[in-house]
Amino acid sequence: MNFLKLQQRLTLLRTKLYTRLIRNSFGAMGKDCTVLWSMRSHHPEGIFIGDRVFIGNDAWIDTFPRYANQTFTPRLDIGSDTMIGHHGHIMVIGHMKIGRHVLIANGVYISDNLHGYEDVSRPVFDQPLVHRPVEIGDEAWIGENVCVLPGVKIGRHSVIGSNSVVTRDIPPYCVAVGAPAAVIRRFDGQEWNRVGKSDARVAVMRSIPAALNERVAYAHQAAAMERADAAAAG
Ligand SMILES: CC(C)(COP(=O)(O)OP(=O)(O)OC[C@H]1O[C@@H](n2cnc3c(N)ncnc32)[C@H](O)[C@@H]1OP(=O)(O)O)[C@@H](O)C(=O)NCCC(=O)NCCS
Repeated sequence: MNFLKLQQRLTLLRTKLYTRLIRNSFGAMGKDCTVLWSMRSHHPEGIFIGDRVFIGNDAWIDTFPRYANQTFTPRLDIGSDTMIGHHGHIMVIGHMKIGRHVLIANGVYISDNLHGYEDVSRPVFDQPLVHRPVEIGDEAWIGENVCVLPGVKIGRHSVIGSNSVVTRDIPPYCVAVGAPAAVIRRFDGQEWNRVGKSDARVAVMRSIPAALNERVAYAHQAAAMERADAAAAG
């Protein structure tokens, strides 16, 4: 047996033991779940996990009943057969639902809250948390390093491309990519079609800032010439 095989066996044993040791800390955990070493969670009692859920290495999945002098009744539901990749980071102060058979890749951030920042006399860290509900539909696929920001609903069987930042709702049966994530494909019941801007429209939109810059430069030039004329006229 080579060393990597031995390491895999030891890791498997550790995972089984670890999952067994922490399962009663959760609000609920179904059967045949796998949680890899080591999960960080200060309030796992607010997390309700279905059957056969997988949670990767070093996940930080938390619910916050309190923040400074605010109190919440948080609950995170993770549906059966859902997989959360390594280094997943999920923060919940309200009721967040992640559906069944959801595939969440590595390094994904999902949050239903943000720090208030409007009061400029106090550090952001000291300002109240603001709740905006988040929901992820059954069978969705969230790519690597995606951020799902507060207030977003991702529809059933939708796909979010790697490194995207989801700032608005994504309807069911869509592929969305980019920051902010925009829908590029949609399933119409028969096939997946490209949607969004045609290449020609993209080219036109890209040319707008350049055209605006040109006009601003022209306006500056015209104003400078007027000032020069006025100075010359005495
Ligand atoms: C979203 C995804 C599934 C789309 O795949 P696809 O349907 O084959 O899409 P295409 O490769 O045809 O790309 C379509 C367009 O979207 C763009 N695009 C695709 N993925 C993108 C991404 N993550 N971010 C930004 N743009 C992206 C492409 O550049 C292309 O643009 P163009 O038409 O202007 O050239 C794939 O790109 C992706 O990001 N997969 C996630 C991979 C991952 O994280 N895996 C983790 C393992 S669980």
